Amino acid sequence: MSGADATRPAKKVFIKTYGCQMNVYDSERMVEALAPEGYAETAILDDADVVVLNTCHIRERAAEKVYSELGRIREVKERRASAGRDTVITVAGCVAQAEGLEIATRQPAVDLVIGPQSTHRLPDLVREVSAKPAIDPFGKRRVRVETEFPEDDKFRHLPARVKKRATAAFLTVQEGCDKFCTFCVVPYTRGAEFSRPAAQIIAEARRMVEDGVREITLLGQNVNAYHGESVKGGSVSLAGLITALSRIEQLERIRYTTSHPRDMGDDLIAVHASEPKLMPYLHLPVQSGADRILAAMNRKHTAADYLALVKRVRAARPDIALSTDFIVGFPGETEDEFEATLDIVRQVHFAQAYTFKYSARPGTPASSLGDQLDEDVKADRLERLQQLLDSQSTHFNESCVGKVFPVLFEKHGRREGQLIGRSPYLQSVFADAAQDMLGRIVPVKISAALPHSLSGQVLAA
Ligand code: 5AD
Ligand code: SF4
Repeated sequence: MSGADATRPAKKVFIKTYGCQMNVYDSERMVEALAPEGYAETAILDDADVVVLNTCHIRERAAEKVYSELGRIREVKERRASAGRDTVITVAGCVAQAEGLEIATRQPAVDLVIGPQSTHRLPDLVREVSAKPAIDPFGKRRVRVETEFPEDDKFRHLPARVKKRATAAFLTVQEGCDKFCTFCVVPYTRGAEFSRPAAQIIAEARRMVEDGVREITLLGQNVNAYHGESVKGGSVSLAGLITALSRIEQLERIRYTTSHPRDMGDDLIAVHASEPKLMPYLHLPVQSGADRILAAMNRKHTAADYLALVKRVRAARPDIALSTDFIVGFPGETEDEFEATLDIVRQVHFAQAYTFKYSARPGTPASSLGDQLDEDVKADRLERLQQLLDSQSTHFNESCVGKVFPVLFEKHGRREGQLIGRSPYLQSVFADAAQDMLGRIVPVKISAALPHSLSGQVLAA
């Protein structure tokens, strides 16, 4: 025991992640980047020498949530300071990018503000501020703000892994967005579209697989707009990248998210037909079923375009399940236009969907449109849409009963002897299974559909 204590890292980092999977990926990399400096991750805020809030700015009052959380963390910092311990408070992610120094002005306990493209700078910046008192004798604070979009990109500075990877993991291949949907802050917070070179991605995927990863989800704000440098030096599309990754032998499943309907190229649709490792599940946000709203959102496609696309995807891969995002209550949305949204849902049949009330994001074109709708109109539409979508996902889950799915077991269930895995359609599947099935793909006969998961029996191999 004493040996373990002696090797225990002296310092701790607490990290809280908001928002999308790209933030989850960035948070993992930040923890890994601090490891060589002697930091171990902790779930106990009071123990943390470095606190990181990796923030999201996409909807609602995300920034307000961050400020209230910061208020709580400041109290911890003060408590630790009276015990002679320093705490470096860091705000990372999209709120950091959007608000910059404003954060440290509103909450003076903040020491570091780091945008999403500068996460690899965290160890240097922590070292820099830790060397200084929170406030020097002249009253000057040690705050540092890093919100540039450095050319020397963060993916060139990938830290070594600190812990064994989960069976299913995320891999960011593309970041930023040039689409400028009028409601969205992403083009401003994550910056211009950028694709990582294929060789870099393939090397990272190989390392992940060596660490036990069997399923990789390729991430990007606009992942199907991916066009990175190919291994041979030309350009490669997402379809080409998926084909290259599928050659990694022990990588068994590939997914990608999030796609834009405009970038669903023929080659990508074709890989859904030809590549068995690519899972039959596609998250394809449509946002609205009304053409006037789609135009006002600058989505650059109509409802009919979307339906035609769905038809092509289903022709290539008949068993594909579709998932989507909707925004209700975009400025000026009429009841008829909302009905058009319900209508497209009835036509497509989604397995899964995420619905949001429109929220005006500062600096976006839609936020200055007239005719912003009342909250209760938005809430009412959200509920009606959600009900319809819930009935479709229930129907989809029920249609799985009796089928045999290959399930990738990822973790232990609450009950002794139970494991939880994922179906090809991203559903959680509960089954009694042997320990050694963790990390493996096993056939499971689905016997029941629960509201948000399935259960079944493992079949003998
Ligand atoms: N208001 C509501 N929802 C939004 N989204 C993005 N911006 C906003 C906004 N201002 C939703 C979209 C997108 C998902 C990630 O978040 O549906 O696809
Ligand atoms: Fe935002 Fe539109 Fe880009 Fe998606 S495609 S990140 S919604 S601007």
